[in-house]
Amino acid sequence: MQTAYDRRQLEQALAPYRDAGDRIALVPTMGGLHAGHMALVQRARQVADRVVVSLFVNPTQFAPSEDFEDYPRTFEADRERLLAEGTDVLFAPGDLVMFPDGEGAVTVAVDRVTEGLEGASRPHFFTGVATVVTKLLAGVSPNLAVFGKKDYQQLVTVRRLVSNLLFATGVEEVEIVREEDGLAVSSRNAYLSAGERAVAPGFYQALRHAVAEAAERSLAPEAVEEVARRRIAEAGLWPEYAEVRRAGDLEPVTDLEGPRVLLAAAHLGSTRLIDNLEFGSVE
Ligand code: PAF
Repeated sequence: MQTAYDRRQLEQALAPYRDAGDRIALVPTMGGLHAGHMALVQRARQVADRVVVSLFVNPTQFAPSEDFEDYPRTFEADRERLLAEGTDVLFAPGDLVMFPDGEGAVTVAVDRVTEGLEGASRPHFFTGVATVVTKLLAGVSPNLAVFGKKDYQQLVTVRRLVSNLLFATGVEEVEIVREEDGLAVSSRNAYLSAGERAVAPGFYQALRHAVAEAAERSLAPEAVEEVARRRIAEAGLWPEYAEVRRAGDLEPVTDLEGPRVLLAAAHLGSTRLIDNLEFGSVE
């Protein structure tokens, strides 16, 4: 595995693969790698000849009040895991590589799909993500980029920017990886105390209950959201939002005819968790 820290080293590492006509997959990460990331790398391995993993803790997607300073930075352990998983290139750019003219010099804003849900409480977040993902796609020029469904709105945002900026990159999506008790794997789970960790699986259970009730009682979307919020609170978390949207593009819905996704954010102590569950008929 080669490690590239800047554009020139990246191009040196990738040139032989490009010359050979290899299909290259990019897995963008912020490090702190866990089983969810490794599922992305494994998928990349399956669908491409060469795997590039980027590791950049993007300051522009954190608000001042968020956990940028505390975000897990485990570079050596990450490198070992990526090596063991058969990664070809680790791209670990510094701030000056990503923002040579400062953080705001060039930004990419994606509208509509970034409104509401995560965008409501984190207005800076998707512009930060879209800007960095655009730079990574431009720098690596992968045939495919791999994203997880855990950050569902991010996945939809990336699809939107790829199609609107005419990138010749396919977007490959990977299902949420869960712990045995159902908790979605996340870097932020590391912040939970033992007591909170015992409560946390109730979040996903609440979403499952809401979706099951929707089917049994032919509920309207608002009723499903209400059940989800109530169940999340009963499980011992504070529900920030629970919303039903159309699966795939997150358009608002007024009924449950067709593929849907229930998306939610909840707080447990000082930790904010997100999760989602797709349901309804798949076209
Ligand atoms: O999902 C993440 O880890 C980040 O949002 C991403 C896509 C690497 C952009 O910084």
